[in-house]
Amino acid sequence: MGEPAQKRLVRKLDLERFLAQIRPHPSPNVRLEQYTTPTSVAATMLYLAAYTYGAIINKRVLDLGCGTGRLALGCAFLGAKSVVGIDIDKLAVKLAAENSDRLGFKTKVDWITGDINAVAGKFDTVLQNPPFGVQKRGADRIFLEKALQVADAVYSLHNHSFTDETLAGRLKHANLLQAEASPFIARFVEKHGGIIKAVYALPLNIPHMFDFHTKARREVIIDLYVIRKANKAS
Ligand SMILES: C[S@@+](CC[C@H](N)C(=O)[O-])C[C@H]1O[C@@H](n2cnc3c(N)ncnc32)[C@H](O)[C@@H]1O
Repeated sequence: MGEPAQKRLVRKLDLERFLAQIRPHPSPNVRLEQYTTPTSVAATMLYLAAYTYGAIINKRVLDLGCGTGRLALGCAFLGAKSVVGIDIDKLAVKLAAENSDRLGFKTKVDWITGDINAVAGKFDTVLQNPPFGVQKRGADRIFLEKALQVADAVYSLHNHSFTDETLAGRLKHANLLQAEASPFIARFVEKHGGIIKAVYALPLNIPHMFDFHTKARREVIIDLYVIRKANKAS
């Protein structure tokens, strides 16, 4: 199969179908918070970044903590100029490369095994679903800091920090809603030279994955932060 760079608008359903073919990690490691981004969340994030903000098509994109490649391959599918995916877990990266070959993007994505701390260079856009810092305090901050070092635009998923029953209820009928930034993340982003352009709350369905999960499924809210480098913000 060739490597189709999408020039025309991709239907969200086609993007979801594509993402659903990306195999998740068969033995996720709780310490690394190896949750695969659900297809619906990944599609909403990618669609918004591509078509509302113009941050993917013909752009140099980086996926920090790429896992088995869902966000990185979504970017390739939508027509990014180049894509790099990095993850500290060797097996995840091997599976990402396999997913990439099977789906026809063999040379479009560079897969790297390593710690995100080692990343250098310049990218237009970072898309990331970092560890939320539940297992290792501050893990999400390391990802945010690195993303702001190397890219002008950052799309990053984080724990929703407010208890908001109304929002949870409204999200049962919507796949995203505008939300407020956590004051902590807002300060952190500003300190590292970024500006939060928008925050969107998304519903996330967590399946039973680890022994400490007590329910078959759990509905939570996560926040997608749209961030620009301060000197690039428009
Ligand atoms: C929440 S998962 C997201 C996986 C994938 N991006 C997805 O969307 O399905 C976070 C990923 O970050 C990786 N990770 C954690 N710490 C890392 C680090 N210091 N450097 C590189 N990758 C890391 C984990 O191995 C895991 O695959």
